[in-house]
Amino acid sequence: MNIDGYTRTCGLIGNPVEHTLSPLIHNTLAEKLSHNLVYVPFHVEEGQVLSALQGAYALHLLGLNVTVPYKSQVMEGLLRIDELAEKIGAVNTLVRVEGGFKGYNTDMPGLYRAMSSEGIQIEGQEMILLGAGGAARAVAFLCASRNAARVYLLNRSLKKAQAVAGEVNEKTGKDVIIPMALSDYQRLPEQKFLAIQATSVGLYPDTAHAVIEDEAFYRKIHTGYDLIYKPSNTRFMQLVQKQGGKAYHGLKMLLYQGIIAYELWNNLSVSEEMASEVYEALKEKMGIYS
Ligand code: ATR
Repeated sequence: MNIDGYTRTCGLIGNPVEHTLSPLIHNTLAEKLSHNLVYVPFHVEEGQVLSALQGAYALHLLGLNVTVPYKSQVMEGLLRIDELAEKIGAVNTLVRVEGGFKGYNTDMPGLYRAMSSEGIQIEGQEMILLGAGGAARAVAFLCASRNAARVYLLNRSLKKAQAVAGEVNEKTGKDVIIPMALSDYQRLPEQKFLAIQATSVGLYPDTAHAVIEDEAFYRKIHTGYDLIYKPSNTRFMQLVQKQGGKAYHGLKMLLYQGIIAYELWNNLSVSEEMASEVYEALKEKMGIYS
């Protein structure tokens, strides 16, 4: 990396940011594309987000990613917000524009592109979505706006499932998200589903659990997509595979949310060949060799 007076800076704001893989994605892209750009993590303390944004603009930063816990909070400091991000209520990418930053959500387009690259379609699918937290809420928006046939949204707290389903159905003008209590999973119709695992259950270091353990549930899943990528073979994925389904972890979603952010900052398209090269670097870093 040859930093000089022309080097543009991008970065990540969040707390914590210490374990992020984003610098690897963006600095690998910059290096392979011969861009004079550097990406660094910025640890921002609670209550400092808006001053961080002002400082970032004053320092002529080209763009930022935003991670936990600031994806919603950051929205009040933005000049403009992209329509999808506004609907989802979460922003993870800021693009410098005249006078401030414009906010985008690249997590959901990232998930869509990751699934497409594996040949998984949302359009017309009968789906199960596990969870009703921030991640699941965004996935529900994606599924509704990409015309899934039906999405059973299962959550431990039924109230939260109902709230998310109600909001997504209303905002997308579709009636496709059906809320259910997690404990009612036996009432799911007897058919095969595409399932997306969007709870935090199974995430490192607590890797021994899946949100549902019953094998009968997993017999209903032809494809299981876990948003978790650490570990890269979650308990949920193992249970899907044991019943003959295909299972995927969330590392490609992380890859593509980064690639879409990089495209927005630099106003270009990253080729699939380049995306694969960055993915190899990510897998190596995570110790994934399959
Ligand atoms: P994120 O931003 O990653 O979505 P979150 O908003 O805290 O995180 O949401 C966590 C999700 O995991 C929720 O759907 C939560 O269920 P509740 O809404 O009922 O709390 C789910 N979750 C977390 N721990 C769980 C557990 N032990 N069993 C079942 N669901 C769990």
